[in-house]
Amino acid sequence: MLLQIPEVLSADQILGCRKVLESNDWVDGRITAGHQSARAKDNLQLPEDNEDARQLGNTILQALENNPLFMAAALPLKVFPPLFNRYQDGQSFGNHVDNAIRQVTGTPHRVRTDLSATLFFSNPDEYDGGELVVEDTYGVHSVKLPAGHLILYPASSLHHVRPVTRGARLASFFWIQSMVRDDGERTILFDLDVAVQRLMSDVPDHPSVVELTSLYHNLLRRWADV
Ligand code: NI
Repeated sequence: MLLQIPEVLSADQILGCRKVLESNDWVDGRITAGHQSARAKDNLQLPEDNEDARQLGNTILQALENNPLFMAAALPLKVFPPLFNRYQDGQSFGNHVDNAIRQVTGTPHRVRTDLSATLFFSNPDEYDGGELVVEDTYGVHSVKLPAGHLILYPASSLHHVRPVTRGARLASFFWIQSMVRDDGERTILFDLDVAVQRLMSDVPDHPSVVELTSLYHNLLRRWADV
């Protein structure tokens, strides 16, 4: 499932974050790439131990925790501390797949990457190119969202970022280990959740609300690992 999550950060938060990002020291993005993806990758990143990056990452993690759509779709168990990248001057990231397991640098913590996320910090009219292109079983999807919006997609999918030929593209990217590892099962739970929420708001006293909620939790119990 490919899902857009609008307005994860407010316009004010984006402004504040951008001030910090734009005045920071960026380094070659190959520092976090795996063996295959290092050959395809050409961008800039903030170092993982950068204090500003850590604080901005915490702002993002807090916003995600308070975002019902993200919580329902990702069913997160662990979220990798957000990283930040920048593409400019024709930079791109060729087709690759993200590493299945990521260790949080300097810690014993590992995250299985079930889902990948990109949170946009630049608006589409500020740069040309820079689309995130994701291939899944339904085809090829080209994604370029307003600042503050996030795209969630299966980490198992092949994807690339097209060359940025004008301006700069700032974004945060990170991975989620979900309580429900399988994308198909997670999608069924999300679809059921959305349908129950709609029924609950349209016909609050309908007896099926309780039955369907029970069904949701029984499926979650069957499929989730915590
Ligand atoms: Ni990637």
